Amino acid sequence: MNLVDKAISERKTVKILAEKDLDCPKKWRETVQELLAVAGMAPFHRACDQHHRESEAMSGIEPWRFHILSPQTCRQLGPTLDPKKAGKIPKMLAAADSLLVATWLPNPSSETLPAGQLFDASLGNMEHIAAASSAIQNLLLAATIRGIRNYWSSGGILREATTFERLGIPQSEILLGAIFLFPQETGDAQVAESKLRPKRTTQENWSRCVEL
Ligand SMILES: Cc1cc2nc3c(=O)[nH]c(=O)nc-3n(C[C@H](O)[C@H](O)[C@H](O)COP(=O)(O)O)c2cc1C
Repeated sequence: MNLVDKAISERKTVKILAEKDLDCPKKWRETVQELLAVAGMAPFHRACDQHHRESEAMSGIEPWRFHILSPQTCRQLGPTLDPKKAGKIPKMLAAADSLLVATWLPNPSSETLPAGQLFDASLGNMEHIAAASSAIQNLLLAATIRGIRNYWSSGGILREATTFERLGIPQSEILLGAIFLFPQETGDAQVAESKLRPKRTTQENWSRCVEL
């Protein structure tokens, strides 16, 4: 098995839930920058729409954005989230070395979208989501190979407009993953893994040879 295969097979969901804040690491920034550089090598088919590139700070053509929360910001944010809606997120923020809020950048819709519909169901948008997902997976693999435990969450309360506003995330972006990076040393914090992982099937169950 080569190194890439190893990183892919060893990547797994690990959630750390701490009752009390864990110590903040000192070297998190450098590590996150390394992971982001790897994330940014993901394939993407088309540049994001111009309106997503107007901010001076983040004007990249890539159809994704990563918003970095330091360990200190994670510790500050947790207790401010509405406990009725926040679920396990505050406990994970109490443990995380950092949180990367990964978004993708939808193309503008030609018509007003029906209530509840987040974006146009277009090929362009599908490809933007696919590209942004590849960037996230790259990041998870880079974390795994460095011994950093990680968890791709749908985000829950972090998706809400009010949370975006507090975190300075433009409302035009759509959350694709709240990526928690956790330390190895977690004291007596609870460690949880995915229930779906053991139910994975082998490739005969989701691939086929095409014959003409
Ligand atoms: C788009 C996406 C969203 C996810 N959201 C959640 C989530 O909100 N809660 C959760 O427990 N796991 C979430 N996961 C993690 C999956 O449940 C997990 O990857 C899957 O069960 C397989 O387990 P493994 O990652 O350990 O291989 C998400 C994964 C993806 C790709």
